[in-house]
Amino acid sequence: MSLNPFEFMSVSETANTRPPGPDTAVPLGIDPQTLETLTALQREYGDIVGLEKPSGRTAYFINDPAAVRHILVRRHTRYEKGPGFERVKMLLGNGLIVSNGDVWRRSRTMIQPAFKVQNVHRLMQVMVDCSEKRAAAWSHAAERGELINITQETSDFALELILVSIFGADYENKLLADGDNPFDFLSKDSTRDLSVVMKVRKLREQLLDIIAARREHDDDEFDFLNMYMQARDKQGNPFSDKELLDELMTLIVAGFETSANTLNWVWYLLAHNPSVEQRLIGEALQQLPDDDRLNAEHTSAMVYTQQVLEETLRLYPPVWLFTRRAIEADELEVFGVPAGADIYLSPYILHRTEKYWPQPDRFDPDRFAGDTATRKDRPYFPFSLGPRRCLGEYFSFLEMKLHLGMLLPRFQLQAVDSNVPALELGINLRAKTDIMLKPVVRGH
Ligand code: HEM
Repeated sequence: MSLNPFEFMSVSETANTRPPGPDTAVPLGIDPQTLETLTALQREYGDIVGLEKPSGRTAYFINDPAAVRHILVRRHTRYEKGPGFERVKMLLGNGLIVSNGDVWRRSRTMIQPAFKVQNVHRLMQVMVDCSEKRAAAWSHAAERGELINITQETSDFALELILVSIFGADYENKLLADGDNPFDFLSKDSTRDLSVVMKVRKLREQLLDIIAARREHDDDEFDFLNMYMQARDKQGNPFSDKELLDELMTLIVAGFETSANTLNWVWYLLAHNPSVEQRLIGEALQQLPDDDRLNAEHTSAMVYTQQVLEETLRLYPPVWLFTRRAIEADELEVFGVPAGADIYLSPYILHRTEKYWPQPDRFDPDRFAGDTATRKDRPYFPFSLGPRRCLGEYFSFLEMKLHLGMLLPRFQLQAVDSNVPALELGINLRAKTDIMLKPVVRGH
């Protein structure tokens, strides 16, 4: 006898079957309430939940690893970006993160070569310099017995790094020239209100000036802006000014807050897990050359550091919730997905689901030990999956490894309390309040 209750159904019947879910409408956003709602729905109805939103639109929450792959990889052409991206559009126009279809495909093809490993390696010196800057600030704080605000520090580090990687010397010579940092609002104003709209407008004008100057005088500086300006589509056309601006804003926003938040959580976790910290320092010291300047060979040998970063991204995936919208009908296992349905996928929830990750709330970098082949099939997707997977994955691991490898052997950042930081669940997962740590210079 068959145990599959759907075996007798025809394909069209299957396509009409809605997954289990509540009978009443459920509001969903990208906010803390939504995390609670989705967690409760999964507990009650399982890994594929069907529901209706107050607008009448069908929505699915998917926490099943195979179904997540189906949407992001196998059938990605049937889905586009979903709700929640409107707010991001204010900053990013129609850049890579928010665009869909042919616009996205053209931009992705033009931009992808800039992220080749050898190009990222050419930006390593900037990563080293930005880490050195933090070292100087932390020495100063340690001498004075002051605490450091690691949330602000990691944010400053990652923002400066991405800006210098994009604009090269123009960052200091042109963008900072009048004394005010026009990017400050990105790391300091967490509210996206009207004043931010004005600041974005002013910033875009400044960036247009830089683009115009570069178009007039070729310079051979190696940075993302030059790589983006040289990119051509299949017809041989470059990005227009408007497209270039959208892509630059996208790169800044995509490239800084995600890495900054991850480093913030790493330092917090290390301050509370001395045995992990000791192993990390051991590994960094083994790699660190006499001049304290790590290179790509050193960083690729930092296997345990990689594990620590992956485990941090499991517990605190910066993009904790993704959305998609079905642009045509699809079938998901035994269920139908109607065109127009909203799809919610949460790395945060999947990464903490006990049946896939035993003792899910425990910080244990050894979960990521072993060769990549055995780890590949884990339900783990902090950088998303498929053709829209993050372009900056290698860049971010390199910057985070250099940051830790250069700073950890020099400084212990001690916890000053045992508070567990509350989460702020917006577009990015952040700590609700800044984390303060006490820097102590090590005697290595
Ligand atoms: C820990 C660090 C990072 C994490 C966890 C992360 C995560 C992600 C995720 C989840 C997406 C896909 C979102 C979606 O499909 O809805 C994405 C896209 C993207 N990320 Fe990252 N990211 C990180 C760092 C970076 C960095 C450093 C850069 C650039 C230097 C970058 C550039 C991009 C770009 C350009 C896209 C859009 C790709 C596309 O749609 O074709 N990211 N990232």
